[in-house]
Amino acid sequence: MKILVCDKTEKECIEQMRQAGLEVDYRDDITPEELMTVLPAYDGMVVRSRTKVRQPLIENCPNLKVIVRGGVGLDTIDVDYARSKGITVMNTPLANSASVAELAIGFMFALARSLCQTTASIKAEKWEKKRFEGDEVGGKTLGLIGVGSIGREVAKRASALGMTVLAYDPYIQGLDGVTLVGFNELLAQSDYISLHLPKNKETENMIGSDQFAMMKDGVRIVNCARGGIINEEALYTALTSGKVAGAALDVFAEEPPVDWKLLKLENVIGSPHIGAATKEAQGRVGAEVAEKLIDFALAHA
Ligand SMILES: NC(=O)c1ccc[n+]([C@@H]2O[C@H](COP(=O)([O-])OP(=O)(O)OC[C@H]3O[C@@H](n4cnc5c(N)ncnc54)[C@H](O)[C@@H]3O)[C@@H](O)[C@H]2O)c1
Repeated sequence: MKILVCDKTEKECIEQMRQAGLEVDYRDDITPEELMTVLPAYDGMVVRSRTKVRQPLIENCPNLKVIVRGGVGLDTIDVDYARSKGITVMNTPLANSASVAELAIGFMFALARSLCQTTASIKAEKWEKKRFEGDEVGGKTLGLIGVGSIGREVAKRASALGMTVLAYDPYIQGLDGVTLVGFNELLAQSDYISLHLPKNKETENMIGSDQFAMMKDGVRIVNCARGGIINEEALYTALTSGKVAGAALDVFAEEPPVDWKLLKLENVIGSPHIGAATKEAQGRVGAEVAEKLIDFALAHA
């Protein structure tokens, strides 16, 4: 079976697949144009978040049998279309969860104590003790929107910090240590709101000006899920009006952003979509990708 690895992937993953007898080419810099001409010769492909697998590419590859996405979100792949063509689409749903959860928790501390702003200040040789009175996260209410694998990891850690954890997730029945509430109730009661749900037609722009209006004054927002679930214009307005005290963003509607004005606000901190960028998560993703492709090859030999 011939596999094309299109994005940066652990070398152990490539070696493991080769040792199992797969013919693997590694092209982590392949362009969409090259992919269109090269991919028809392959049975399978591995992608991370860089390579998009849209309908025209799939149409052009009648021999393609399997797509493995190293990571969680499948929004970069036209999954329904691929499956309608008999292509198996798989991801590595659990490998990243702890890393993304730790980033979300880290962001909450950074917002509570203005850690990014204190660092900029002290590096500028200022000693602004009075400017930086923060607050504790313990005793506060965290509202999780989406409690799948990552949301659950955040909930465990937040509970251990003494936070009250609420969650809105219409697709689950119950979860220990978490109080499931309606969407509007979560918005109204939370001191921190952290997003851990997929981006799709239902969730795009799910948080806009009407939702910000329902939130507590001084709420803090963390988004390590996907850009575009929060309407960025509405967030900008809420941050400049003081309704939202601070936001921490790992993801953006466009990546890298085209308009950087949100990130230029003093009360916004961010990172370039690094939720899963830890050695541990990458190792687990690589191992899971190799395992899934080897199993697939054995099952279809
Ligand atoms: N920042 C990063 O680098 C990074 C890394 C991995 C995953 N992610 C993103 O994190 C998000 C969550 O990942 P996960 O692994 O926990 O996924 P998951 O599928 O395990 O959990 C998602 C949860 O969202 C819930 N959900 C779906 N629609 C909802 C809605 N309308 N309202 C509320 N809840 C809803 C689902 O029921 C599910 O429980 C995804 O968007 C994923 O792409 C980001």
